[in-house]
Amino acid sequence: MATLQLLDIAKHFGKGVWGVKKLDLEVEDKEFLVLLGPSGCGKTTAMRMIAGLEDVTRGTILLSGRDITDVAPRNRNVSMVFQNYAVWPHMTVYDNIAFSLKLKKMPGAEIKQRVQETADMVKIGGLLGRHPGQLSGGQQQRVAVARALAVKPELFLFDEPLSNLDAKLRVIMRTEMKDIHQKTEATSIFVTHDQSEAMSMADRVVIMKDGGIIQIGTPDDVYSRSTDMFVAGFIGTPPTNFFNVVCSYNDQKIELKHSDFVLPLDSANFAELKEYNGKNLVLGVRAEDIKVVPESKAVFKEKILVIEPQGSHQIVAFNLEGAMYKISVPAEIEMRVGGDIGLDFNMDRLSFFNKETENRILLKSEVSN
Ligand SMILES: Nc1ncnc2c1ncn2[C@@H]1O[C@H](COP(=O)(O)OP(=O)(O)OP(=O)(O)O)[C@@H](O)[C@H]1O
Ligand SMILES: [Mg+2]
Repeated sequence: MATLQLLDIAKHFGKGVWGVKKLDLEVEDKEFLVLLGPSGCGKTTAMRMIAGLEDVTRGTILLSGRDITDVAPRNRNVSMVFQNYAVWPHMTVYDNIAFSLKLKKMPGAEIKQRVQETADMVKIGGLLGRHPGQLSGGQQQRVAVARALAVKPELFLFDEPLSNLDAKLRVIMRTEMKDIHQKTEATSIFVTHDQSEAMSMADRVVIMKDGGIIQIGTPDDVYSRSTDMFVAGFIGTPPTNFFNVVCSYNDQKIELKHSDFVLPLDSANFAELKEYNGKNLVLGVRAEDIKVVPESKAVFKEKILVIEPQGSHQIVAFNLEGAMYKISVPAEIEMRVGGDIGLDFNMDRLSFFNKETENRILLKSEVSN
């Protein structure tokens, strides 16, 4: 049973450099929380403050209700796994995993059992006699994970533990780590700047930018109801397509006018847009929510610039007003570079953003769920 609360924590490194400007966050018991954000947004700094490797400039950290803000790292009951593994090269795998248990003066037989148990869990049970230099990168990372697991801490911190692995191994490891989490049910915070890793592993995702939090939500929340254009553009491959439109409301009709199309909207479902009459708006549409349709039924028509086959589907790109737009098309629909395609929108999946603030315009249908 472990919860973590960060109450308005911040880190100032001096000379006006803020590693973290403001973090308010609650991690629930057994939760797998992922911190996601671009390089330099403060993810590592946040983790180091939680682990006690960095003092906070402001704020309070509560672990299961206990104030650990000023507690020494070794007394926090928190384990951290780093990007560079940080396994000890001069020790065998066994000794790497057993080290903290010996420090805790655990009886020898119990240590032996705990080491074997954790090593088996991360599939290195047969490598206990080797030194890290005799292991692959992926195996070394497993040692680092086993070492963290062995002490059974209240809280796990993982700072980009998979980013040194090749693409294929990363995907395998993330599934295994999720499986391990489901078995141990240990409260965990996992840092990554890989949005697909974040989406596939997280119970909830925290999107960070410039030392603060932009959005906290389930993978579906951040993907389908991105709080602003930054999140909509950051999450998803390809990212959200943005169309600059002017909203027009008259005669009970709402229309979005774009240089290439006019999109009529049901004024009951999109009532919130009425107040944007005559104003610029940004329409955001996910790649899979722009559909290829016969030209006679199309809302707009574009020329295919590039086709990227993905096996299960294809990404088709076109150019509009100097920007690149990408849509996801079923693999079986035949596409030809230079050919015209008719396009339509999935009307249930449109997002709208205020052009000035770049914030999401909340529709009634979204507020209720
Ligand atoms: N010891 C330090 N002294 C001064 N500035 C620092 C220190 N550590 C980090 N910073 C600054 O704090 C900000 C946040 O850094 P941090 O390492 O937390 O980012 P990050 O989100 O982990 O990035 P990345 O994805 O590249 O690992 C950056 O601007 C960084 O330059
Ligand atoms: Mg970092």
